[in-house]
Amino acid sequence: MHIDVLTLFPELFPGPLGTSVVGRAAERKLATVGTVDVREFAADRRGTVDEKPYGGGPGMLMMVEPLTLALESIRRPDSVVVMTTPRGERFDQKLARELAQLPHLILVAGHYEGVDERFLASEVDREVSIGDYVLSNGNLAAMVIADAVIRLLPGVLGDDASSCEESHSNDLLEYPQYTRPEEFRSQRVPEVLLSGDHGRIERWRRSEAERLTRERRPDLWEKYLQRQTKEV
Ligand code: ADE
Repeated sequence: MHIDVLTLFPELFPGPLGTSVVGRAAERKLATVGTVDVREFAADRRGTVDEKPYGGGPGMLMMVEPLTLALESIRRPDSVVVMTTPRGERFDQKLARELAQLPHLILVAGHYEGVDERFLASEVDREVSIGDYVLSNGNLAAMVIADAVIRLLPGVLGDDASSCEESHSNDLLEYPQYTRPEEFRSQRVPEVLLSGDHGRIERWRRSEAERLTRERRPDLWEKYLQRQTKEV
């Protein structure tokens, strides 16, 4: 998979995408991340990429022409274009899995107070928000999306089971886990995990995952219950 990020701040990349699991995926060419500097596609020498909105109002908008030219410089017939914006559909694990199927994902990092609507109307396939809060620009959101997508690609995580069992993959939060030592400052590892009884361990983990989800995320718990009913 290849991911391109259209941005006004190419120097932010790869940043966190250059380390750990995702960095190693890039080294192994399982996923590559490139950037396109939108400013290079400005019509004037000063590199103007933003303007005041028609009709007045606060702030500046990203102009349609530099964005369109930047996109055309890398677009392929199989590209999917995603714009990061707080007004987009909410990013979640399901959308991450969907995007992980693509050969070429183009992330456009939104900026300033917004973007000329004509760019969205004619070039953007999906507008995506990473949550109900406003970041100062879309670059962090683009990194979040790229990270969540790349770690799902085949071969990126050491063993494929670890992305199936984790939080959100089945509408449940992850169960509590423990490693050495068996006792730390009088806190003991739950006895069941030392029992060697795999059936009991499985049931304990499931019930802990359900308890945490019910307590912390009533919205996910509702979804989980509905899915259980459907499956029966
Ligand atoms: N840009 C600013 N805030 C954002 C958000 N919450 N999600 C995606 N892009 C954004």
